[in-house]
Amino acid sequence: SAQVATNITFHAGSVDASERATLLAQKGITVWFTGLSASGKSTIACALEQHLLHLKKFTYRLDGDNIRFGLNKDLGFDEQSRTENIRRIGEVSKLFADASCVTLTAFISPYIADRAVARELHAKAGLAFIEVFVDAPLAVVEQRDPKGLYKKARAGEIKDFTGISAPYEAPVSPEVHIKTDECDVAEAVRRITAYLSENSFI
Ligand code: PPS
Repeated sequence: SAQVATNITFHAGSVDASERATLLAQKGITVWFTGLSASGKSTIACALEQHLLHLKKFTYRLDGDNIRFGLNKDLGFDEQSRTENIRRIGEVSKLFADASCVTLTAFISPYIADRAVARELHAKAGLAFIEVFVDAPLAVVEQRDPKGLYKKARAGEIKDFTGISAPYEAPVSPEVHIKTDECDVAEAVRRITAYLSENSFI
């Protein structure tokens, strides 16, 4: 395996996040969506992105299916790969938040410990981070099955499939909890936006 770099030092520039925040008239934050495949993460994140843009917020969405075509195309779905996937997304979202962007991430991110690492990374950098649990029962997402993946997973054609043959660890105390079988997309966007503004994040 490749050798890890040594003799590197961190170089702090002369411009900091607060100056960027003043320039853009907004603070950076990461809004971290987590939930099963087909729970509605991407749909809600897309709608929220559009709504935030209408509110004149500089926003950017990092999404599982897209990032796995580029930055993380070397990763699969075994436990180690998912941890590495989420580690990189945590680092990238931290950089976006540091750039004063309202950053939305939509990944299954099935492990509590991996999400905690992403949160801690933000905390250490003094950046806001909130977790949105996009919650739908397995029976509901399996019924939706927009890509036919649950069917394939049940048939044993996909191994390590979240909810079927790989774990999903639900958040214990997410900042926002959306039950997508009870709440439509517009309502989800309203609730997240309300949370962000009531807590002065936007
Ligand atoms: S993770 O667990 O956070 O690393 O996953 P993520 O990067 O969000 O990628 C999830 C999407 O990949 C597709 N897919 C799978 N999901 C779960 N398990 C397995 N084995 C798998 N294989 C492919 C699936 O379409 C997920 O998309 P979403 O948008 O979540 O439905």
